[in-house]
Amino acid sequence: MNIMNSTCYKGFMLLVFVGFFFIDFHLCNADPTDGFTQIPLSQKNFKLQKPYDKPLQQRYSYEDAIRSFWVYDKDKPFKPDSTTRPRTEVRVSGYDYSSGIWQFEGYAFVPNGTSGVTIVQIHGAAVGATSLQLRIYNGDMRYYKYNLVATNLYDKWFRVNIIHDVDKGKITVFIEGVKKFVVKDQGPGDLYFKCGVYAAPANSSNYMESRWKGIKLYRK
Ligand SMILES: *[C@@H]1O[C@H](CO)[C@@H](O)[C@H](O)[C@H]1NC(C)=O
Ligand SMILES: *[C@@H]1O[C@H](CO)[C@@H](O)[C@H](O)[C@H]1NC(C)=O
Repeated sequence: MNIMNSTCYKGFMLLVFVGFFFIDFHLCNADPTDGFTQIPLSQKNFKLQKPYDKPLQQRYSYEDAIRSFWVYDKDKPFKPDSTTRPRTEVRVSGYDYSSGIWQFEGYAFVPNGTSGVTIVQIHGAAVGATSLQLRIYNGDMRYYKYNLVATNLYDKWFRVNIIHDVDKGKITVFIEGVKKFVVKDQGPGDLYFKCGVYAAPANSSNYMESRWKGIKLYRK
């Protein structure tokens, strides 16, 4: 009887221990996409922009599921009557949003030397053109030219997750699954995600490139 009780007790303690271990394990590994539903995207949901006077294949390639975007500092804007800086970008289209909770996910690669460029953004805002720009300057990622979001990103693939809670007016940026930056948004608008290369207003390298794979859209 004593032996039985002791065995039960040990078994119970083991269960408690295993239980805590799993709770802990789960919290440590909470994923930014937990609780979100993926929206299926097809090629028609990817709309490309590039310098208007260049054929697409001179600024973009799509091979082995990797989209490569590049642009030069002195390139033309995406349309002749635009005064914006040069870009080669893909817009996630068909799912513009103005409320709710949305999430962009992708794996990015920025080669050493690319600087002064937005690699992913949320286009649209109540006032102004964008709600978020994540720019690379000298291998570090910044919120526009301001807050440091992540460092030492050259020459490696890194996972990017951006959650936009429009109802709460909040944007959260994860790099490699780690929450790195939270910021108030710019109010509701016609909102959508873009990635690629869009030259910053100043301090751009002559050549700018980013590569993307696994681009996904989620909502809650
Ligand atoms: C980037 O290239 C420069 C110049 O070649 C070099 O000094 C630097 O160490 C490189 N940075 C990384 C992260 O590889
Ligand atoms: C450009 O870089 C210089 C030197 O790092 C810095 O002082 C300046 O603020 C930057 N300008 C912009 C618009 O980012």
